[in-house]
Amino acid sequence: MKPTLKKKQKVILAYSGGLDTSVCIHWLSARGYSVVGFCVDVGQGIAENFSVIKKRGLACGAEKIVIQDLRESFAEDYILPALKAGAIYEGKYLLATALSRPLIAKALAETAQKEKATAVAHGCTGKGNDQVRIEVSLRVLNPKLNILAPVREWEMKSRQEEMDYAKRKRIPIPPKKDSVYSLDQNLWGIAIESGPLEDPWNEPPAEAYRWTTDPAKAPNKPDYVTIEFNRGKPVKLNGRSLPFIKIIETLNATGARHGVGRVDMIEDRLVGIKSREVYEAPAATILHLAHKELEHLTLDREMLSFKEGIAQRYSRLIYDGLWFTPLKTAFDAFVESTQKTVTGQVKVKLFKGTAMPVARKSPYSRYAESLATYSGKDLFDQKAAAGFIALWGLPYIKHR
Ligand code: ARG
Repeated sequence: MKPTLKKKQKVILAYSGGLDTSVCIHWLSARGYSVVGFCVDVGQGIAENFSVIKKRGLACGAEKIVIQDLRESFAEDYILPALKAGAIYEGKYLLATALSRPLIAKALAETAQKEKATAVAHGCTGKGNDQVRIEVSLRVLNPKLNILAPVREWEMKSRQEEMDYAKRKRIPIPPKKDSVYSLDQNLWGIAIESGPLEDPWNEPPAEAYRWTTDPAKAPNKPDYVTIEFNRGKPVKLNGRSLPFIKIIETLNATGARHGVGRVDMIEDRLVGIKSREVYEAPAATILHLAHKELEHLTLDREMLSFKEGIAQRYSRLIYDGLWFTPLKTAFDAFVESTQKTVTGQVKVKLFKGTAMPVARKSPYSRYAESLATYSGKDLFDQKAAAGFIALWGLPYIKHR
C-alpha cells in the first residue's frame, strides 16, 4: 500500500470496536484514507455498547461510524441453512464465527456501493480463517473492490505493540480486562482463543468461559425445553410461536444456565495451522441435537446416512469460506428436499452441562410401534427374517 494518496479514497472498515480495528482506523487514516467504521450487529451485543464504540471510532480518526442490525438475516439466511444441513465442523465446532463472515462481507460490499467507496478493509490477521472467508466472499460479490488488511501488513506483532501504538498516537482503546483472550461472539455462539488456551494441556480457566455456568455449579433440577420444527425450521418453543431469532436467544439463556454448549477442541485451520479453540454455543447445541433427533424419527436410513456426508461437506464449505458458491446452492437444494418431513416436536432435557433429547413426535414419524414392540401387539413377521438372513449373508459364505 502506498503511504500517501493523491485524492482521499474512501474505505469501509468492518469495525468491531476492539483493539485491532480501532488501531486499523488510525492506521488507515494516517495513510490518507477516509475511513467509515462499519459495525454489523449479528447479536454480539454491539448495539448496547454502540455509543461508546462510536465515540472510540471517531476519536481514532474515522469519518463516521455506522451500525447495521443484521441479526434477523443472520438467523434466517445463514444459521438456518447450516442447522438444516447439520453442519458441524470436525464433529465439534458449530460454526458461529464462520457463518457470520459471508454476511459481513456482503454487508461490506453493499455499504461500499452505497457510500461510493473504492475499498473495504477488515481487521483479520494473516493466520486465521476469517481473512479467507471475508475476502473470498468479497471477491465473488464485487471483484472490483480493493481489499485492505492492515493487520496483515503492519509491523506490530502483538497486542502489546498495538497498545503501545495507541498510546503513542493518543487514541483510545478498549479497557484492558479482556486482553488475554481473543473473543468473537454472535447469536450462534462465542469463540474464545489465546492466552492460557494456547497450551493444549491447560484446562480452560474458569474465567475463560463467558456465557455458561460451570456444569458443576448448574442447577440441581433439570429444565425441559420443547422445540417444534416445521420442515426443519424451529417455529415454537415450549408451545409458543416465536421468531427463530427469539428461539435462539431464549435457548442461549436457558442452556447457559445449565452449563450446556461448552466445546474445547483442537481445530484444523484452513491455513494449515492446528489451533486450540474454546467455544460456548448453548442454543446451537440444543437446536442441532433436537433437529437431528427429529430427522432420525422422520427420515429413512439411507437418507440419514447420505445426508451425514453432505453435512460434513457443508460444514467444510462454511468453514472454508465458500458460502457464495454454486456448490452451496446445490447443497441447499438437496437439504431443502430432505426437510419436507422434518416437522414435529422434540423435548430436550438440560441438566448439568448436558442436553439430551428425551421425547420426540411427528406426523411424519416412520417409527411403528407395531413393528418395534416386544409385546403381544407385534405385527412384524419374524419368520420372514430367516430368508432375509440367508440372502444377506450369501456373499460371505463358501459355496461349492
Ligand atoms: N476458529 C474459529 C473460526 O475460524 C473462531 C475464530 C474466532 N476469532 C476470534 N477472534 N476468537 O471460525
